[in-house]
Amino acid sequence: MSSQVRIGLAGFGIVGQGLTSILTGSAQWIERRLGRPVAVHAVALRDPHKQRAVPIPDGARVVSNPLELAQDPDIDIVVELMGGLGMAYDLIRLALASGKHVVTANKHLLAERGEELFALAAQKGVGLYYEASVCGGIPIVQTLKESLAGNRILAVTGILNGTSNFILSRMSSKGLTYQAALKKAQKKGYAEADPTLDVEGFDAAHKLVLLIRLAYGHDYPLNKLPVTGITGVTPLDIAYAKEFGCQVKLIGQAKMVDGRIMAGVHPMMLSQSYLLAQVHGAFNAVRVVGDAVGAVMLYGQGAGGLPTGSAVLADIMDLARDGAAPNNTGFPEKMLPPADILPPEEECSRRYFRFNVEDKPGVLAALAQALGDVGISIYQVVQKVDPSAPDSNIVPIVFMTHQAKQRDVEKALENIRAMPFVKAEPVHLRVL
Ligand code: NDP
Ligand code: HSE
Repeated sequence: MSSQVRIGLAGFGIVGQGLTSILTGSAQWIERRLGRPVAVHAVALRDPHKQRAVPIPDGARVVSNPLELAQDPDIDIVVELMGGLGMAYDLIRLALASGKHVVTANKHLLAERGEELFALAAQKGVGLYYEASVCGGIPIVQTLKESLAGNRILAVTGILNGTSNFILSRMSSKGLTYQAALKKAQKKGYAEADPTLDVEGFDAAHKLVLLIRLAYGHDYPLNKLPVTGITGVTPLDIAYAKEFGCQVKLIGQAKMVDGRIMAGVHPMMLSQSYLLAQVHGAFNAVRVVGDAVGAVMLYGQGAGGLPTGSAVLADIMDLARDGAAPNNTGFPEKMLPPADILPPEEECSRRYFRFNVEDKPGVLAALAQALGDVGISIYQVVQKVDPSAPDSNIVPIVFMTHQAKQRDVEKALENIRAMPFVKAEPVHLRVL
């Protein structure tokens, strides 16, 4: 590399501008840390006339085609902050093929096509770094890749999506409905215009697949990951959760069970006493359990221009320190082996069920029998009159169970749905 670290920046939105602000505001500090300055050599802009809160850095060449960055001999590191699966893929592929290091925040692309892109980076001996792609400013990628490298990771559990956590926090603290809380998240700029990736659990799933790769050194196909979003979570279930001393959170979790990886993203109930239950608003947190280190928890801002820019810059600086070969996945193989996945029906966890049923003799006994028939053991039961409809003949009955296998849960639900006194689709949540 030259006396300067020269980056080519594609994407000048929230994260691109956040990165640029740090590069400008902390230029001297960065140079002191690195021994040489980081300069934005070129920026790719779709619309050079668009008004932006942060100016294009002095001296940066503006190009209209991001692919030009990949082949510019004066660029050392291509920084992809456009997002999406189209142009971002073309740019990263071309940059790696041209022997350039790449830094990206694009978890969606790495979750879908990481296997191929990491193999190309390994073949070319260049870096493909992505600290910002998992939980924005939280340094979890480096933590798993380097700091905890000597540990066998027993479990990784996290609140990986700030938008969903904001929505669930508002539903819990202010008693808002899902729709009202979503509107607040959109107003605050947390949720995307189309919030599907956030609220259906897909954004968390992208991040979990990257965490699994880092923690276990295996590729876990995104389409094999069980994912449930938060759109079905109701204020009533959040209120019941509180009665059981719990919060409802969207949790991404991977753990080793009998040598196989059990993983998924689901809304879960967790005890108020857990640190993860105290992560509110748009914040993220990841808890890692290693066999030697025990439990480690990282907490912070999973989104926003400056926090995410901070992670992008850390990758740039890491790659700019000449010497060791790039460490992209944390494992030396060019292609990581496929994960040995625990079949989803074997997944085991405690459960919360809510059944809306006719209030008449034998109903509670029949529900308990249906659970018992498939070997699910009940831990607690609550039947209450709904205060908003005290004279209604339809009442919610809630069960908390001991550990239950997903296969047995599905069998029980199938039988219970067919019971004539069950008046609505049963609700069930996992308990962490
Ligand atoms: P924005 O939508 O704010 O910015 C995207 C930028 O990319 C815009 O400047 C846009 O141009 C440009 N762009 C998009 N497509 C093209 C294209 N085909 N050719 C040229 N330029 C293009 O996105 P963010 O900054 O929020 O996100 C960037 C990446 O960072 C994404 O992968 C996202 O998932 C990830 N990320 C974002 C976080 C956040 O807090 N926002 C947190 C963690 C990760 P134009 O200005 O013309 O629209
Ligand atoms: N949309 C993401 C979230 C931010 O809400 O957490 C980027 O990862």
